[in-house]
Amino acid sequence: MKKRIAVLISGSGSNLQAIIDHIVAGKINGEIVLVLSNKVGAFGLERAQQAGIPTQVLQHTDYQSRLAFDQAVLNAIDKQRVDLVILAGFMRILTEEFVSHFSGRMLNIHPSLLPKYKGLDTHQRAIDAGDRAHGCSVHFVTPELDGGPVALQAIVPICSADSLDSLQQKVHVREHIAYPKVVAWFCANKLLWRDNNLYLNGELLPTNGFQLLFDAVE
Ligand code: GRF
Repeated sequence: MKKRIAVLISGSGSNLQAIIDHIVAGKINGEIVLVLSNKVGAFGLERAQQAGIPTQVLQHTDYQSRLAFDQAVLNAIDKQRVDLVILAGFMRILTEEFVSHFSGRMLNIHPSLLPKYKGLDTHQRAIDAGDRAHGCSVHFVTPELDGGPVALQAIVPICSADSLDSLQQKVHVREHIAYPKVVAWFCANKLLWRDNNLYLNGELLPTNGFQLLFDAVE
């Protein structure tokens, strides 16, 4: 059975596009049944419409509290009987109630090698720290911000010639490989979260997840 997927966005939706493309190519046993944005005019909405996917906008500014907004989003998702919620550039801090409701069936992508650089400005922070490697992490969402168990990390080298822009771009391209991969695992029931551990095809994953390495010289 195909998994029913909801994708939450706030912006460009290039990760959404990568997932759509993988579904169209038959690489993900799933169907996106809802793309929800908290921003009117988010380009990701257009991408969804182009692909014939139902969209919905719920603006957080229309709600009196964080809890009320989250409840409205939760209701919209539940109405679609969703198996998996994908956060793809959804720029909202979610309440514990929302996160608990979707525990074990909500994924996020974060542009750093977690547990390094939770929060914002991850690329600049990696450069400032003099790191040799950077990347992105796909993880299950828990109430701790960017703190849930990591399924996969895509790692890129930081070269001396890298600027903030070039590094951001390199990581972004890897995100489009990393996220669909984990979504495909989930939809094929290959990824299991049990007792704080993740298993891929029955094998225990390391705490930093499956490691996707990219060439040192580009
Ligand atoms: C990505 O950089 C992702 O790591 C972060 O939000 C951004 C979303 O980009 N969580 P896009 O909207 O998918 O292009």
